[in-house]
Amino acid sequence: MSRPTVTLIPGDGIGPEVTRAVVRVLKAAGFDPEWETFSAGAEAVAEHGTTLPPSLLDSVARNKVALKGPITTPVGKGFTSVNVGLRKALDLYANLRPVWNLPSVPSRFSGVDLVIVRENTEDLYAGLEHVVVPGVVESLKIITEKATTRIAAFAFEYARRHQRKKVTIVHKANIMKLGDGLFLDTARKVAARYPEVACEDRIVDAACMHLVMHPERMDVLLLPNLYGDIVSDLCAGLVGGLGVVPSANLGEGGVGVFEAVHGTAPDIAGRDIANPTALLLSAVLMLQHLQEDEKAARIMTALREVLESGHVTPDLGGTATTTSFADAICRRIEQG
Ligand code: NAI
Repeated sequence: MSRPTVTLIPGDGIGPEVTRAVVRVLKAAGFDPEWETFSAGAEAVAEHGTTLPPSLLDSVARNKVALKGPITTPVGKGFTSVNVGLRKALDLYANLRPVWNLPSVPSRFSGVDLVIVRENTEDLYAGLEHVVVPGVVESLKIITEKATTRIAAFAFEYARRHQRKKVTIVHKANIMKLGDGLFLDTARKVAARYPEVACEDRIVDAACMHLVMHPERMDVLLLPNLYGDIVSDLCAGLVGGLGVVPSANLGEGGVGVFEAVHGTAPDIAGRDIANPTALLLSAVLMLQHLQEDEKAARIMTALREVLESGHVTPDLGGTATTTSFADAICRRIEQG
């Protein structure tokens, strides 16, 4: 079989550290593609004069698959989010975030096994804002029937394919009767095409309360972009934090960019203590996307064993470094 080519965007902050660790684990599991490596964000400006080089976009469009580390977005000023730019440019409309308990990872809950499906292209995240008069800003919340139909179909298809029982539509249609109302009505219409999957809806604030009281009762959650962003981090907190939650940004025709939910963690960057588990789990999603299920399973077995051994990074209460944690996983894989 020919060697696949995969785009690699290490990112900044802890990105290069966790990416290096994950690439090593992938190689130990027998996945050793041709990596096309690109900088993005502030780093890319020096080299390419832009935060999101066209050559990077061409590479992802050509290879269809990318593994990506986090990229800094300046707060309140400076360049717009490269992460959002990438999703828009490649029309990666679905953000998939499985959230489940891993062995030996300290967490407030057990039995959590839910999947967040977040619309990735519109809502307030479209970033359409302007100053009406000094002291007054208008931010536009865009919801369309077309984008909602597409993401709802994705969520219900996912539920059907993965034998999930229920999709919960999350919204605030009691207040935003038009925008969130359109999201809810459109998603319900799609739900009607999937009688084998139960459908319920919850107002976002009540959904948050339910999530922190009974997360084990949630299954697939379907959310517009901004609620999806916020609820994803809440859900990461249910199972041990940002160091252990993966994500995939998926588009039409099998295009996928796989990245951790967490950011660049500037507070711990450069110290070799970041937890690479979230990016490793994202890489496992990538392998499953590429139908490399056996390699994905080998990594999962080794990861579980190393977590159970207690050799974990400081965010999980251990003293392992990023490097030694990855070494331990590679050894387990090689021992078979
Ligand atoms: P963050 O996720 O970078 O960090 C939040 C907290 O979690 C920090 O205490 C950090 O040390 C910890 N943490 C995160 N990942 C960890 C890991 N793998 N191992 C151990 N601890 C970890 O969120 P923050 O501080 O809000 O954002 C920092 C920067 O990252 C910002 O510029 C933000 O825009 C960017 N960001 C980028 C994302 C992406 O590229 N997809 C996603 C989220 C944020």
